[in-house]
Amino acid sequence: MRIGILGTGGMSDALGTQWRRAGHEVVAGGRSAGGLREAAVFGTDAVLLAVPYAAVVEVVAGLEPVLRGRVLIDCTNPVGPGFGLLTAGGPAAAQRIAAAAPAAHVVKAFNLCHVDVWRMTPPVFDGRPLAVPLCGDDEAALSVVRRLVRDLGCEPLNAGGLDRSGLVEATAALLIGLWVGEGADAQAIAPPLAFADDRA
Ligand SMILES: NC(=O)c1ccc[n+]([C@@H]2O[C@H](COP(=O)([O-])OP(=O)(O)OC[C@H]3O[C@@H](n4cnc5c(N)ncnc54)[C@H](OP(=O)(O)O)[C@@H]3O)[C@@H](O)[C@H]2O)c1
Repeated sequence: MRIGILGTGGMSDALGTQWRRAGHEVVAGGRSAGGLREAAVFGTDAVLLAVPYAAVVEVVAGLEPVLRGRVLIDCTNPVGPGFGLLTAGGPAAAQRIAAAAPAAHVVKAFNLCHVDVWRMTPPVFDGRPLAVPLCGDDEAALSVVRRLVRDLGCEPLNAGGLDRSGLVEATAALLIGLWVGEGADAQAIAPPLAFADDRA
C-alpha cells in the first residue's frame, strides 16, 4: 500500500516504521515545506492523521481536496487537562474530522495505546495480541485499516460506525486518567468475556 502520514512525531514514527517493515511504502510529512500536502498526495491507499487534536480540523480542512475518496485514519486523542474530553458536549474528534473532509472515509483507530505499545513487534501481552477497536462508516476503508492493524500483529475489533467514535475517544480519556493519573492497572477493569453478558 501507499500510505501518507500527516505529522512527523512519535505516532508517525511508530506506525510508519511498522508499516514499512510490513512492506508498505510510507511518506510522512510535517508542517514545514509543504510536507503535509506531499504526504496526503502520496497516501492513495491510506492517510494517517497524527497531529495534535488542536490542529486536526485546520490540517484536514486545508487538505480537503486531496483527501477526497481517501481512507483517513484518525488516531487523535482529544484529551485535555485533568484527562477531560476537549470535545465534551459536541461531536467526537473523528466526526469533526469527517465534517472537515466530507468526501474522505474516516476510520478511528490506534488511539487507545501509548506510542511505545505501537512500537512493539508484535504488541502481545500474556500471549494475547492487542485488540484494536475500529469505528467507521465505509466498509472498504475499514477493510484497509483491518489489514494495517493485522500488519502490526494486532487484532482488529469492529466497534461500530463513526457515531460510536466518541465512545472510543472517551475510553481513551478514562484509561489515560487511570494509567497516568492514578497509576492504576486499567486493564483490570474489564471482566473476561464469559462474565460480560446480560447480568451486567
Ligand atoms: N503519543 C502517544 O502515546 C499517542 C497515543 C495514541 C494517540 N496519540 C495521538 O496521536 C497524535 C499525534 O501524537 P504524537 O505523540 O505523535 O505527537 P507528537 O510527537 O507531538 O507529534 C505531533 C506532530 O504534529 C505536528 N503538529 C503539531 N502542531 C501542528 C499544527 N498546528 N499543524 C500541523 N502539524 C502540527 C508536529 O509538527 P512539529 O514537529 O513541526 O511540531 C509533529 O509532527 C495526537 O493527536 C495524539 O493524541 C498519541
